[in-house]
Amino acid sequence: MMMNCLQSWPEPIVRVQHLSDTAGIKNGVIPDRYVKKPTDRPHPEGADHNINIPVVDMAGLYSGEAATREKTAALIDEACREWGFFQVVNHGVSHALMGRVQEVWREFFKLPLEEKQKYANTPATYEGYGSRLGVEKGASLDWSDYFFLNYLPLSLRDPSKWPSHPPSCRELVGEYGEQVHQLCGKLMKIMSQNLGLREDDDLAEAFGGESELGACLRINYYPKCPQPHLALGLSAHSDPGGITILFPDEEVAGLQVRRGDHWITVKPIAKALVVNLGDQVEVVSNGRYKSVEHRVIVNSQKERVSLAFFYNPRGDMVIKPADHLVTEESPPLYPPTTYNQYRLYMRMRGPRGKSQVDSLNLTNTTTTTTTPDLHNYTS
Ligand code: OGA
Ligand code: NI
Repeated sequence: MMMNCLQSWPEPIVRVQHLSDTAGIKNGVIPDRYVKKPTDRPHPEGADHNINIPVVDMAGLYSGEAATREKTAALIDEACREWGFFQVVNHGVSHALMGRVQEVWREFFKLPLEEKQKYANTPATYEGYGSRLGVEKGASLDWSDYFFLNYLPLSLRDPSKWPSHPPSCRELVGEYGEQVHQLCGKLMKIMSQNLGLREDDDLAEAFGGESELGACLRINYYPKCPQPHLALGLSAHSDPGGITILFPDEEVAGLQVRRGDHWITVKPIAKALVVNLGDQVEVVSNGRYKSVEHRVIVNSQKERVSLAFFYNPRGDMVIKPADHLVTEESPPLYPPTTYNQYRLYMRMRGPRGKSQVDSLNLTNTTTTTTTPDLHNYTS
């Protein structure tokens, strides 16, 4: 039964791009499935436009001046504690490559539907062209399509599943992944130092070791929406994995980060990358660092494309608070869970705020653990 759910979608898949482009929408009214309940809608009065998430110049980490290195590390530590989100500049990823990879994915989404359908995905692995997260029949849907691919470990990388058009797509994804992966390595080191772990690679080791780690890329495509005040491009969620490196659309804002009761709209800086911490960093850091809820709003004027690179623990790695961060005064806040088990929640239920990591939190006695038990599931 569970296996069946994961092997196929519970109902026919509708491409949001198709709804947006064609007569799928009558009189500019979006289908009910995409209409959020009033409390989830992006009310402009709940958004704060005057503040932005922190911006960190990564060059400072490699400065000849010790004071600059320390200041930069402290900025990153503060951003990890207080925000769970920051933008980085001088991040080491080639700007020209970023431009090309963004362009190639825009072109992919412009291809005729039949061409993209060749890559239609299933919930078994999510790899390929998709239009929903979660497999619950009748669930509320988000205003986006995406392409999801496995980048690491190498045993899961299969470029023949990546688009063959545009012709440069596979090569560019390979290069982009390599450079963003290096950036993740640098961030993992600095976070290990900032958390006071014993070795620079302790965080990477907690995730299963640099050569075994997982990484995947989701290219999000948010078509124009005739009723943007009723819909979301991506519902509120925290990312289940380790760290996410997001390359947002430089021309069209859409990403919002929760700050208390407000949503902050991230103002994209040209060729900057957005770093956000996922639930596994919250767990390993025993709550010192927090994954933070975010969502995407859409608009009626412009489509939006973003690239999210997810850097994750090895699937079968048991993730738990680092020994070094567990003391008598600071008992473990989260029980050990493998990452494969953990991520099933998102794969089954779709984006649901921070409900999963919060339900695991051992100090939170009002909720029960709701991670689906899917021992049959392999990927
Ligand atoms: C995600 C995500 C934000 C965006 O893919 O998990 O949060 O701006 N994306 O597309
Ligand atoms: Ni996200």
